[in-house]
Amino acid sequence: MKGRFIAAGLLIALALPAAARAADLQRAEEIVGGRCFLCHGMEGEAASALYPRLAGQHSEYIAKQLGDFKSGKRKSDTMAGMAADLTPEEMKALGAFFEKKPATRSTTAEPDLAGVGRYIFTKGNPYSGVAACVSCHGAKGHGTPQLPRLAGQQALYLENQLKQFNTRERNNDNAVMHSVASKLTELERKAVADYIATLD
Ligand code: HEC
Ligand code: HEC
Repeated sequence: MKGRFIAAGLLIALALPAAARAADLQRAEEIVGGRCFLCHGMEGEAASALYPRLAGQHSEYIAKQLGDFKSGKRKSDTMAGMAADLTPEEMKALGAFFEKKPATRSTTAEPDLAGVGRYIFTKGNPYSGVAACVSCHGAKGHGTPQLPRLAGQQALYLENQLKQFNTRERNNDNAVMHSVASKLTELERKAVADYIATLD
C-alpha cells in the first residue's frame, strides 16, 4: 500500500513540471500568434530580411534580449513596445518556444563574396586584427546559451547589427562586438553576413 502511495506521489511530482512547461509553451504560442508573427513569423523564420530569425536561437539569449528591450538596456523603437508588458516567465517561455523551431538558412547569390566571408568567419583578418568569429560563436556559428546563434540568420539583419555594434547604437553588452565590428571594412561586413546566412 505504502509503496503505491509513494509511487503515485512520484508520478505527480514528475508530471507537474511537464504540465507547467506545456502551459508556458501554449502561452508563448498565444503571444507569438498575437503579434510577434507579424515580423518574426509563426515558426521564427522571419517575415522579411529586415527581421531577425528566432528559430533555433538559444532560449536564454532570447529571454535576455527581451528583458533588455523592456528595460531599455537594448534600444529599439520597435521591440521596446513589443516587450513592454512581457513578464520574465513569458520571456523564458518565448525563448523555449523559438529554440524548439527548426532553423532555416539562405543561399547566396554571390559565391565569391561568401568565400571572402568564410575566410573572415573562420580566420578573421590577421592583417587588421579582426578576431575569427568561430573563436566565440563556434565552428558552425551555433553559439552557446550566452552567445547568440548566428548560423542561417538574415544577412541584412547581421549587417545592420554589425553596423550598430560599431556605432554603439546597439547599446547592450557591446564591448566585445564593438571591438570586432569597428575593425571590419564594409566589404568584410557584407561578406561575413552573406556567408553566415548560408550556414546550417
Ligand atoms: C513590427 C515588427 C516586430 C514585431 C511585431 C516583433 N519584433 Fe522582435 N524584432 C524586430 C526588429 C526590427 C528587431 C531587431 C532589433 C532592432 O534592431 O531594433 C527585433 C529583434 C528581436 C529579438 C532579438 C533577436 C536577436 O537576435 O538579438 C528578439 C528576441 C525578438 N525580437 C523577439 C520578439 C518577440 C518575442 C515578439 C513578440 C512579443 C516580437 N519580437 C515582435 C521586429 C519585431
Ligand atoms: C570574443 C568573442 C566574440 C568574437 C570573436 C565575435 N563575437 Fe559576435 N558576439 C559576441 C557576444 C558575447 C555577443 C552577444 C552580445 C549580447 O549579449 O548582446 C555577440 C553577438 C553578435 C551578433 C548579434 C547577433 C544577434 O542575434 O543579434 C552578431 C551579428 C555577431 N556577434 C557577429 C560576429 C561576427 C560576424 C564575428 C566575426 C567577425 C563575431 N561576431 C566575433 C562575441 C564575439
